[in-house]
Amino acid sequence: MKRLFLRCIGCGAEYSGDVVIYRCPRCGDLLDVVVDVDEVFCRESLKGRVESIWRYAELLPDFGDGVVTLGEGFTPLVKCEKLARIVGVRELFLKLEGLNPTGSFKDRGMSVGVSMALRIGARSVICASTGNTSASLAAYSARAGLECIVLIPEGKVAVGKLFQARIHGAKVYQVRGNFDEALSIAIERSSETGAYLLNSVNPWRIEGQKTVSFEVWEQLGRTDINVVVPVGNSGNISAICKGFKELEMYGVIDDVPRLIGVQASGAAPIAEMVRSGASSIRFWDSPETIATAIRIGKPVNWKKGIRAIRESGGTAVSVSDEEILEALRLLATVEGVACELAGASTIAGLRRLVDEGVIGGDETAVCILTGNVLKDPSEQLVAWNVPTVIEAEGVKSI
Ligand code: F0G
Repeated sequence: MKRLFLRCIGCGAEYSGDVVIYRCPRCGDLLDVVVDVDEVFCRESLKGRVESIWRYAELLPDFGDGVVTLGEGFTPLVKCEKLARIVGVRELFLKLEGLNPTGSFKDRGMSVGVSMALRIGARSVICASTGNTSASLAAYSARAGLECIVLIPEGKVAVGKLFQARIHGAKVYQVRGNFDEALSIAIERSSETGAYLLNSVNPWRIEGQKTVSFEVWEQLGRTDINVVVPVGNSGNISAICKGFKELEMYGVIDDVPRLIGVQASGAAPIAEMVRSGASSIRFWDSPETIATAIRIGKPVNWKKGIRAIRESGGTAVSVSDEEILEALRLLATVEGVACELAGASTIAGLRRLVDEGVIGGDETAVCILTGNVLKDPSEQLVAWNVPTVIEAEGVKSI
C-alpha cells in the first residue's frame, strides 16, 4: 500500500494529494506531503535501477507513463582531500548538482512538479525565480507541452539562466523589483488564472528535491555527517531534511545528518533567526548579494527551513560576498570543481563554522553545490586571472 497526502505544518489538517492547493485552506500555513508506504528500498534492491531520481520510486508519487523526466538526479559525490585539509575537516565531499539536465538541483523538483501539473490537467505553469527555477521549469514544461510563464527580477538574473528560459520558449517577464515581489505576483496570477504554481511553496517540488538525500546516503554509505546547503527560500534545506527523515522513519538509517544553512550576509533572514534563537522571522526588505540565486529577503518556506535546521541539530551562518568569491576561487583552483556562487557559499560557511569550533576537525561534511558555474560566467568572478594578449607570430616564451 502507498498513500501520499498533504498535511498542514501548522494546524495538522489533512488533504488528499489530488487537490490543487499550495497552502492550508483552513489556516494558511505551508503543506507537507506525507508519504505512507509499506515497503521502501534498501541498498540491495536499488542495484541496477534507473540512474535518476526515479530509482527511489517507493518514496515518490507514481505517474506511470505521464512522468516528465530528463534523467535528473544521480549526480556525482566527489571527495576532496586537499580542500578538506584547507578547511580543517576530516573528510569533505561535494555533491555536484550543477550536473543536472538544466544545470541545477531544481530539476529534481521540476520532474515531480511538472508531472503533477500534467496529472491535474493544467495547461500552463508559472513561477517567480532568481534564475534556476525558471530555467528548469522552462525546460520541463517544454517537454510536457505546457505553456510556461516566468517572472524574474530585472537585471538580477545570471545571463545563462535567462538564456535558458528564453531558449525553451517560456514567456519571460522581467519585474522591476526583487524576487520577493516577483513571487507575490506569481502567486496572485496563479490564483487568478489557474496556472499551476511551481515555486517551492508547492510541496510536490520538495518531493523531487528530497532525493538528493537518498543519493548522499547511497553514495557515502553513512549519515553521521554535516550537510551544508545554500539557503534562499529554504525549500531545498527542508527537502533535504525530509529525505533523511523518511530514511530514518523507514529504518534505512539511524541518524539524520546535521543540516547547516548558509546565506549571504546581505540576504540572511534565516541565519539571523537561527543565530538569535528568535521564535519568529524578520524579513529583509532590500536583500543584496553577488550570489543572485539566493538574493531573497522573504523566504516563503522559512518555517520548514527553521524546522529542518533545529530538528537536525544543525545551524545557519551568513558569509560575505568576498568570502563566497574566495571560496569559489579555492574550489576551482585547488579541486578543479567550480559551481555557482550560491553553491560556493557552502565552502565559505563551512570554513567559518570550523573556525568558530561549531564543526570539529574530526567531522565529515557534504557541501551541496547547487548550480553549474557556466550559468554565470561574469568577468568579476575571474578578475584575479586576466588573460594575456599576444601577437600571432614570433612567440618565443609562454
Ligand atoms: N542555490 C541555487 C543555485 C539556487 O538557484 C537557489 C534557489 C538556492 C541555492 C536556494 O534554494 O531557495 O530552496 O533555499 N533558487 C531559486 C530560483 C530561488 O528561483 O532559482 P532555496
